Amino acid sequence: MPVDVLVGLQWGDEGKGKIVDVLAPTYDVVARFQGGPNAGHTLTFNGTKHVLHQVPSGIFHPHIINVVGNGVVLDPVVFREELRKLTARGVDATANLYISKKAQLILPSHRALDRIWEEARGGGRIGSTLKGIGPTYQDKIGRTGLRVGDILRADFKQRYQETVERHRQLAAFHQRELGIEADEAAFFEAVEELSQLQLTDTEYLLNNLLSQGKRILAEGAQGSLLDIDFGTYPFVTSSSTVVAGACTGLGIAPRYIEKVYGISKAYCTRVGSGPFPTELLDEVGEKIRQAGREFGSTTGRPRRCGWIDLPALRYAIMLNGVTEIHLMKADVLSDFDEIQVCTHYKRGDGTLTEQLPDLAELQELTPEYTALPGWRTNLDEVSDANALPSQLAKYVQYLEEQLNVPVTIVSVGPDRTSTLHLN
Ligand code: GDP
Ligand code: IMO
Ligand code: MG
Repeated sequence: MPVDVLVGLQWGDEGKGKIVDVLAPTYDVVARFQGGPNAGHTLTFNGTKHVLHQVPSGIFHPHIINVVGNGVVLDPVVFREELRKLTARGVDATANLYISKKAQLILPSHRALDRIWEEARGGGRIGSTLKGIGPTYQDKIGRTGLRVGDILRADFKQRYQETVERHRQLAAFHQRELGIEADEAAFFEAVEELSQLQLTDTEYLLNNLLSQGKRILAEGAQGSLLDIDFGTYPFVTSSSTVVAGACTGLGIAPRYIEKVYGISKAYCTRVGSGPFPTELLDEVGEKIRQAGREFGSTTGRPRRCGWIDLPALRYAIMLNGVTEIHLMKADVLSDFDEIQVCTHYKRGDGTLTEQLPDLAELQELTPEYTALPGWRTNLDEVSDANALPSQLAKYVQYLEEQLNVPVTIVSVGPDRTSTLHLN
């Protein structure tokens, strides 16, 4: 009765949504354990692209039970929009969808505070998606948050008003108004619709399913280098994006966890501020951005692009105990003579390190690269993992040797079918 966990190994947008959709047929349950509408998970099949923010990426498979776990921060307005879009596309998203009563609620005032606080950071901005993530987790940890289960209580409106009043005082500290009056009607409509869904103690649901022998896939959001503890703090998100977050975010004991899928692009991207040692600010970075269509799924912002970073990947693999790597977007590098791989960082004093240092030092590092030959082959035609162009097979083998983890999937396009399973 295993739980397998899928996490991003970089700064998010590695292709997690696509892989959850690919793996879903072999599971009974897909469960999101952290994050919220800051996530944008893209799934493409039958010529249609779908972007999910809070709905788990198993939703297109009718046999799958989809769970929004207690570790998630849920915006009812965004959630209603997502469900409406799915209904318009003929997907009955609600029948197999369960939401934890312990998940935190994102209020319009959390979104307002996110903006106010981000503006107050001035030059030190995080580059938040401004979906209210930080302020909502702050209320959770401060024990002042409202949870999904609270919407069923008779005093919900009163507790909402008290919370907003507190947020108003926080905004006043920055001489700002919340300015949420126009958003409140939609919020209460969405809350009403949310109250009609299957709200439950999902930790019991999941553990009961486990004891019936059902297979669970835990779907991470963001990436390991955005983790609140281990990421490039303070340029991180506010949740535990690593595998441990699946235990606290779903109420599942560590002993049930079996496989840990680590998702990585064949290169690297980051959206928002913060250190990114292998970032390419030249035409090579621009070429990757164009070839990979590297623009945010949630905010549309251009993503920063660079080469793959082995010290950073090793760190993420260590934190997560990754058992398999899925290498994404190999097709994006098809038009390069050489692929660079960062093997070490050089410090200011000239010494080399393989360890990810603290923020201050991270900004002074220069990456050291090894060049591998590119494969210069259009991968559209490759449908058999045994028929990888030899230079791509060598790239995969090199990464396996360096990272000491097998690569079991090479993804060569956004579509469900553009997925090569390696032995
Ligand atoms: P997630 O947040 O980890 O689910 O990733 P996103 O959906 O935000 O970003 C990944 C982007 O890459 C999406 O636009 C996907 O459709 C696309 N994508 C996923 N896998 C591949 C691939 O192998 N090749 C190409 N070209 N695009 C891919
Ligand atoms: P998925 O699940 C990429 C980044 C933001 C910002 C920082 C903090 O699609 O991979 P937040 O809104 O959480 O306060 O933003 O984290 N970020 C992501 N980057 N993919 C994501 O999710 C992200 N979610 C947050 O850009 O730098
Ligand atoms: Mg994304």
